[in-house]
Amino acid sequence: MLVAPSILSANFLYLKDEVISVCEGGADLLHIDVMDGHFVPNLTFGPAVLQGLSEISTIPLDVHLMVENTDFFVELFAPLKPKYMSVHLESCKHLHRTLERIRSFGISPAVVINPHSNEEDLKYILNDVDMVLVMSVNPGFGAQSFIPFSLEKIKNLKNLILARNANCLIEVDGGVSDKNISLLKDGGIDIAVAGSYIFGAKDRRSAIASLKI
Ligand code: DX5
Ligand code: ZN
Repeated sequence: MLVAPSILSANFLYLKDEVISVCEGGADLLHIDVMDGHFVPNLTFGPAVLQGLSEISTIPLDVHLMVENTDFFVELFAPLKPKYMSVHLESCKHLHRTLERIRSFGISPAVVINPHSNEEDLKYILNDVDMVLVMSVNPGFGAQSFIPFSLEKIKNLKNLILARNANCLIEVDGGVSDKNISLLKDGGIDIAVAGSYIFGAKDRRSAIASLKI
């Protein structure tokens, strides 16, 4: 299991120290939630902050775009060369084109689905993405409760990926902790995003370790 701490739950006044704590604590990816105040009712990081983060992080960046105008943000953040860039199925008019554009920058394209979206709608795109991000809370905020039906979606998605022989990982985001990580692993996920669980813990290393099962 790869672990991606979401810095949305970090203490922003000490962001550098917070990032270093999870890099040194064994995290695999740094999950960065970009919000525009339109697609979701919250605002987070712009290019200057991401530039700074990319300079101090010793692990690859995993950028999750929760925005209306996805193509604009893809162009804006592509020069930072994150490992993954995830775009929402719900906000892309021409999803395949956007994913191809992300790949053209040498970035692994990923697609995200909201809790209400049907994983079957990803069927024709699975062979063109390196990862699917399943939202297990409504996007916009940290520290929400895991929505139980997400597990069924993950299992269905895993079967779809196998049926289509797609080379694509499953990441889950929202309400992940040591309480549900075993179920999620059994369901077939490869990457666990966790914000409040990791940044709410004094000992970041052991919180991260508890998810690496
Ligand atoms: C929510 C974000 C998540 C969030 C997860 O919109 O996409 O990455 O930070 O936070 P937790 O792990 O606290 O649910
Ligand atoms: Zn996220």
